[in-house]
Amino acid sequence: MLLTVSKRIEFSASRRLHVDSWSDAENLAVFGPETNARHGTGRNYVAYFVFTGPVDPSNGMLINIGEIKERAGKIVRERFDHKFLNKDNPSFCDVPPTAENIARQLHLDVAPLFSDVDATLAACHVSESPERSATFYFDGGGEANYWFEFSAARKTVSPHVNKEENARLFGRATSIHGHNYRARLTFRTERLDAKALLVRHDAIDACLHALRDELNHRYLNQEVVGLRDRPVTTESLAGYIYERVKAAVSLHRIRLHEREDFFAEAWGDKIIFLGTWMPFNAAHRLHATALSDAENAKLYGKCNNPLGHGHRYLTETTVGGEYDKRSGTLYDFVAFRKAIEESLKPWQNRHLDLETNDFRDVPSTGENIVRALWPKIDNRVNQQLVRLRLWETANNRFTLRRT
Ligand code: NI
Repeated sequence: MLLTVSKRIEFSASRRLHVDSWSDAENLAVFGPETNARHGTGRNYVAYFVFTGPVDPSNGMLINIGEIKERAGKIVRERFDHKFLNKDNPSFCDVPPTAENIARQLHLDVAPLFSDVDATLAACHVSESPERSATFYFDGGGEANYWFEFSAARKTVSPHVNKEENARLFGRATSIHGHNYRARLTFRTERLDAKALLVRHDAIDACLHALRDELNHRYLNQEVVGLRDRPVTTESLAGYIYERVKAAVSLHRIRLHEREDFFAEAWGDKIIFLGTWMPFNAAHRLHATALSDAENAKLYGKCNNPLGHGHRYLTETTVGGEYDKRSGTLYDFVAFRKAIEESLKPWQNRHLDLETNDFRDVPSTGENIVRALWPKIDNRVNQQLVRLRLWETANNRFTLRRT
């Protein structure tokens, strides 16, 4: 199992994507129309610093999140926030400040600041807009993400099973209905080259244009030729978009949101995942019994408030396993939601430390909450859990993955 802790930090900056030694036409093809912004254009960025390492059993923490805010925050403030990146930050004097390169630079700047702790900076993720984000990994790998939206009608049915089975599997979704879909395409390289773009603007633009043309405002079961003989489920649709993109551009994976809180992912030709979000509200207090009151106050700060505090925690549960091509399903959606609901129920509207048994002996840190939740959900979903995320606030995220 792999545990990561992620801290979110915002900044705003301007940038220009333009390589002087290239022709205007070349810049336009690689960077798109924003290359013409002579004095730069702006973005509100969100950076995520993702750490991994062992959890200290005495305090329940992989890393003190306050330290990430402090140390990474200083780098962000001094070198990125409210800057014209090309001129104010020397790292971008001959490297275009794309989302990938900003993620890479943040990793290069921030990783060495944590040489004194057991945790390591596994990745930096940078979101520059709802349509575009990038990740740089400690091993030099990089990812570029492109989001696009489409609205479409469908009947959730499989042409390979009879009417009764369709009704049993999909209930009212077998009637014609619609969704606003949001899809994320992820392109990956094992070695991010700061001088070359992972995906050129002209390639992704053509690809997204073709996808929208094929899917937007269509009745998927009838008007999309490639879907006529397939089940029309979220899983199958994710797989279909994966195949369509892969035929044009080398793609690593796709995530397809049918709703904000429900998505399918397709990795490779046969690997499908299903994920859903579910919140729970609870009170808690960070306090380690092995430490003195003064030590607790210093370590946990305001989270050590004797009377407690609380959060609207958000969970994201992702399951994998056998995708059934005949029915187009990976897991029964209703049973999936019920499994998570039952797992969260004992914590709903409770004080985690005082009213549950899970945190009698360990502090209720995000690390310990996600670790306590894993077996509760996994045992209810047939041991098919592959990834479990917990947002304590929008800024602090804890992720456990099956390795
Ligand atoms: Ni808290």
